[in-house]
Amino acid sequence: MILNPARWTLRSKLLASIVTLFILVLTLIGAATVLSMRTSLMKQVDQQLIDVERAVGGGPAGTTELGGPADKDSHPRAPGLGGSVLRLTLDASSTPHSLVVDQNYVSSATGTQLTLSQAQIRSLATADLGTTPKTMDFDGSLGRYRVVRVPKPDGDIAFIGLPLAPIDDNIRALAGNIALMGLLGLVTIGGASFLLVRRNLRPLQQVAATAERVSELPLGRGDVRTDERVPVALTDDHTEVGTVGLALNNLLDHVDSALDARHESEMQVRQFVADASHELRTPLASIRGYAELSRREKEPVPVGVTHALGRIESEAGRMTTLVEDLLLLARLDAGRELEREPVDLTRVVVETVSDLHAAGPEHVWHLDLPEDLEDFPEVIGDEARLRQVVINLLANARRHTPAGTTVTAGLARRDDDVLLTVTDDGPGIPPEFMPHLFERFTRGDAARTRTEGSTGLGLSIVDAVVAAHHGTVRVESRPGRTCFTVSLPLEDPRPSSQEDRS
Ligand SMILES: Nc1ncnc2c1ncn2[C@@H]1O[C@H](COP(=O)(O)OP(=O)(O)OP(=O)(O)O)[C@@H](O)[C@H]1O
Ligand SMILES: [Mg+2]
Repeated sequence: MILNPARWTLRSKLLASIVTLFILVLTLIGAATVLSMRTSLMKQVDQQLIDVERAVGGGPAGTTELGGPADKDSHPRAPGLGGSVLRLTLDASSTPHSLVVDQNYVSSATGTQLTLSQAQIRSLATADLGTTPKTMDFDGSLGRYRVVRVPKPDGDIAFIGLPLAPIDDNIRALAGNIALMGLLGLVTIGGASFLLVRRNLRPLQQVAATAERVSELPLGRGDVRTDERVPVALTDDHTEVGTVGLALNNLLDHVDSALDARHESEMQVRQFVADASHELRTPLASIRGYAELSRREKEPVPVGVTHALGRIESEAGRMTTLVEDLLLLARLDAGRELEREPVDLTRVVVETVSDLHAAGPEHVWHLDLPEDLEDFPEVIGDEARLRQVVINLLANARRHTPAGTTVTAGLARRDDDVLLTVTDDGPGIPPEFMPHLFERFTRGDAARTRTEGSTGLGLSIVDAVVAAHHGTVRVESRPGRTCFTVSLPLEDPRPSSQEDRS
């Protein structure tokens, strides 16, 4: 990841760019400085050599005379370069095979005197030298020299050289200084850039933090608004960050109006369902009433008609339950106020189990109640709705399990909650159906139960009623054990309204 710049943070990229550019510019300036310095120093040395060469070769009077016949035994110094000089004079009688040396010395800046070795003399004599200074490398203790070859008026050949070591030392010192200054500059530029980049990117982090907070808001359902906005100071569209901040605020305004529109249409659908359910109740009651009336008719009625009337009655009954369920859900969705009264859940559970026992004697019914029923706390809520929760859960345990299944209704207190559990040892709920269990009109065993009058609203009602009481429902199911646990708070934390949930 570190090696892939595409995945670096903006801060790292900016820092890396600044530092790289700085190193690049510094290297270029450093190299140019060193080169021009070197050229200028070389020119100085060459100029000195040319002066000497003129003097020795009998040209126009130079400024320096280095060893002529008059000073054959003295070792004059060259000016400017610490006095170091190389001097070799070959006698006019020299041939390429036998070199006759008149003068041979190398004086150094420290005052020490050396002489050229035979090999060095030979290399000088055979080198392609002239009156233009050239660089000769003698290796070892001598190093590099700028050398000229000067034919003297008396036929002798003089070789005069000035050392390049001082120039090399100067250049090395200069390069060292540049490197040191560059390093200091790099640390300063790196540190300052780090702080500046961080400071300049901070507004971007604030914008991101706003977006992060919005992403955590529960915008899934109900009347919700996103009050989070990027601070006005960060919405100046003359800056890049300001443009992003402004765009985010515009986006949030847009989201808000979309949420409002969605809520509005949700409310309309709910109202429609509530109105339709309400309106259907009366004609349904009439249908049931007339069907019952017709069945009681004294006059002989054909068997087929009696059967049809029975079917009309039972289907009308089923439709009434469906309409009542829909109406209840619509009301809960709309946040309709529930009753808030102390409810004795133990009584509700005992009565419901007893009813279901009577209705389903083929199941085994158990109660698992606390020892001390007198002290068991009452829950604040709507008794009719809570009773419906208990009925729906117990009815499911009867309807969706085979005969002989044991169903246990339990009540217990845990901290500030009352736990209602309905457990059965039936075949369980298919795992793939579990995520949809509390959705409306969903049935796990559709084919089997549709004919038995199942609508798939029972658990949605349980969920909605429990949520309206600020409680929770959990379910665990595997073959041989299905357990629904409803947890209801003893102390109602908020006013009993479902508004916050819808
Ligand atoms: N105790 C249980 N054992 C096995 N399956 C269950 C149990 N409780 C619920 N289910 C499954 O969950 C589905 C949904 O239950 P829900 O109560 O919402 O609808 P329903 O019982 O089919 O219809 P109704 O609206 O009449 O209650 C059921 O159809 C059933 O498949
Ligand atoms: Mg049910």
